[in-house]
Amino acid sequence: MATNHDDYIHLLFGSEDPLLQEVNERIKANGMPSISVKPEVGRLLSILVKMRNPRHVLEIGALGGYSGIILAGALGKEGSLTSLELEQSYATVAHSNLEKAGLKEKVKYVIGPALQNMESLYNAGQRYDFFFIDADKVNYPAYLDMAIKLASPGAIIAADNTLQGDRVFDETIKDDNVEAIREFNLKMANDERLESIILPLCDGLTVGRVKEAE
Ligand SMILES: C[S@@+](CC[C@H](N)C(=O)[O-])C[C@H]1O[C@@H](n2cnc3c(N)ncnc32)[C@H](O)[C@@H]1O
Repeated sequence: MATNHDDYIHLLFGSEDPLLQEVNERIKANGMPSISVKPEVGRLLSILVKMRNPRHVLEIGALGGYSGIILAGALGKEGSLTSLELEQSYATVAHSNLEKAGLKEKVKYVIGPALQNMESLYNAGQRYDFFFIDADKVNYPAYLDMAIKLASPGAIIAADNTLQGDRVFDETIKDDNVEAIREFNLKMANDERLESIILPLCDGLTVGRVKEAE
């Protein structure tokens, strides 16, 4: 029996598709870190993508393709996913996992530091309707600035781990990751171009919508 809301939600909604279980097993077998999104977060991402029905999704942080399968799998016929990943070897594993899931045609991996690649995508005139930020925490504020530049009106921006194990609201904690997430959440809350909220699901998912120009 659950004794807190996290366990309760996990018991009700945390079951995992066997295909995604296999992805996490392959991530481990390849010596990669076990830091894919939790099944509950995956479920929410899938619902958000289906609600927004984006044409172009940008993921920042691919790892082994767990969230990539969820994002790409929720897309409509015309939708595509661009996934930014620092490590070539991780992107290779992710691509093979998307292929096994029958989603190879929907995804493109761009390798290297995400911030630089976001700048290049912006200069190339690419625009996106849905963002999932899940890479190095220190760059979250910069990823947000770039996501707003790359966003089409009404775009959704979702970012994982924005409660940092509840350390984010303890102002005495001076840690680079925590301080960057604090700055990120502050921007999400106060930037007039956005309407946003933190959902206290797992380690926190901040979700915002880029307003249409008035
Ligand atoms: C938490 S994992 C992503 C998990 C993935 N979203 C999932 O749930 O399946 C973070 C990923 O970000 C990548 N990463 C870290 N720093 C990066 C950077 N500067 N640019 C691009 N990717 C980066 C890491 O290599 C790692 O694969």
